[in-house]
Amino acid sequence: MTEAAAKVEKAKLTLPDGREHEMTCYRSTIGKDICLIDIRDLYSKVNAFTYDPGFTCTASCASAITYLDGDKGICLYRGYAVADLCRHYDYTDVCHLLLNGDLPTEAERVDFVNMIEDHMMVHERFKEFFKVFRMNAHPMAIMVSASAALSSFYSESMEWSNEEHRESSAINLVAKMPTLAAMAYKSSIGEPIVYPRAGLSYAANFLRMMFATPMKEYVPNPVHVRAIDRFLTIHADHEQNASTSTVRIAGSSQANPFACVAAGIACLWGPAHGGANEAVLKMLADIGTVENIQQFVTDVKNKKDGVRLMGFGHRVYKTYDPRAVYMRELCKEVFDGLEYYDPQLAIAQELEKIALSDEYFKKRNLYPNVDFYSGLILRAIGIPTSMFTVMFALGRSLGWITHWMEMVGSGQMRIGRPRQLYQGVVERTVPAPAPLPTAMPSSRDISRPTTADEPARKVSSATAGITRRMSGIRLASKKSADMTGMHPTVPT
Ligand code: CMC
Repeated sequence: MTEAAAKVEKAKLTLPDGREHEMTCYRSTIGKDICLIDIRDLYSKVNAFTYDPGFTCTASCASAITYLDGDKGICLYRGYAVADLCRHYDYTDVCHLLLNGDLPTEAERVDFVNMIEDHMMVHERFKEFFKVFRMNAHPMAIMVSASAALSSFYSESMEWSNEEHRESSAINLVAKMPTLAAMAYKSSIGEPIVYPRAGLSYAANFLRMMFATPMKEYVPNPVHVRAIDRFLTIHADHEQNASTSTVRIAGSSQANPFACVAAGIACLWGPAHGGANEAVLKMLADIGTVENIQQFVTDVKNKKDGVRLMGFGHRVYKTYDPRAVYMRELCKEVFDGLEYYDPQLAIAQELEKIALSDEYFKKRNLYPNVDFYSGLILRAIGIPTSMFTVMFALGRSLGWITHWMEMVGSGQMRIGRPRQLYQGVVERTVPAPAPLPTAMPSSRDISRPTTADEPARKVSSATAGITRRMSGIRLASKKSADMTGMHPTVPT
């Protein structure tokens, strides 16, 4: 969608002093009942800002990638329902769709898959990079660093204003993420790194890099491969979520794409976002048995220790998350295909049933989200819990880089810089420093502010070197620094 293409209407704002301000309204190409009021000239015209913590009612950009309808439970990638893409297309087709706007033709598919395959290996020196992490380091900690480190290996082709560089960065990122994710895992368990191999699908290659060892080749299980492929598609994008918005904000400062994606991975890590899939399994383990569910639900409703029903609720969806609907379908497919049994599935299903019939959850429109069943699927495949959020990052890196490409390519590069509602103390005068002990005259000279009869030039040149030396003393002993009275605390 471009702003020019959107239908233009007007809205009027009346300010407390009676002034009126007319604003343009936009409508998206779908979901036309929502009016998007353009407030960009609010400050320059009427000296006002808007206040919207958590951006609950604020559109930060114009985008043509993903469309969500939270009331109807719709999620479309470039116009296609995400669950239908999962049922009929591979993840690499979806990569082509998001990056290029359309599903590939047969010829395009072959070229695209070859191009991804050609870029899957990472620089050999990258192996050294992984050695610095301690054993058992969380793979997400490694992933944040590894994606940022891509910018040190591929620095010659990441100029944001160069279209070819942007495309090369996107392909490099999508192709290398499974390699980096598997390397992060192998490093965390102390096993040798396994290289990608030509001729395997994206998902099969990833699973082989995770589970093959120099001792034993990995034989792809089609149920595992299909499930990972679909998992990646369902997580590929979700419009302006917290991590994608983080990537866009980082990109707006013209930071390189790999650094922006590193910022996105860091944001994804939290349990309110991508960390929820890991948190769901922990929650199911804590509940332990079906008999304990009712007590857990009571604790959630009473907000005991801030406990939440993980894998439930969503900022946008006020009905079933369509991705959760598909994940439940995939969960059944995987469990049946593997003839697998997990006692936690019964707990999850009962928990869902109880929550969906409870007034607390009904009143707040809390339904299962994408993370409710995804952990059970990953565990059935043998993915360790510590890798769950990495799996989310692996799929979502496609969305992050697609948004970065769109933002840069469509010239939406104005730096992200929100305002604030200041709630602090009003301006006041810095209090005069307390009298200093006479025992240390030299320190006293240094810390005293310049006075009218003591020219600033003279003091600053005299103090520069001494301040450096004194800061060494300060670091060595806070106590002695406190005694010198050099750093009186400004009361707040
Ligand atoms: N369990 C219990 N209560 C909840 C939950 C939950 N999972 N989610 C929201 N609520 C309650 C919340 O306590 C509040 O109640 P009240 O009005 O009495 O204070 C009300 O519902 C509104 O909650 P909110 O925190 O204002 O809603 P939000 O839109 O800011 O938060 C959310 C969205 C996803 C962070 C939240 O629903 C949550 O914490 N869910 C659990 C974590 C989770 O599953 N996250 C994965 C999200 S989907 C994957 C992704 O895209 O990141």
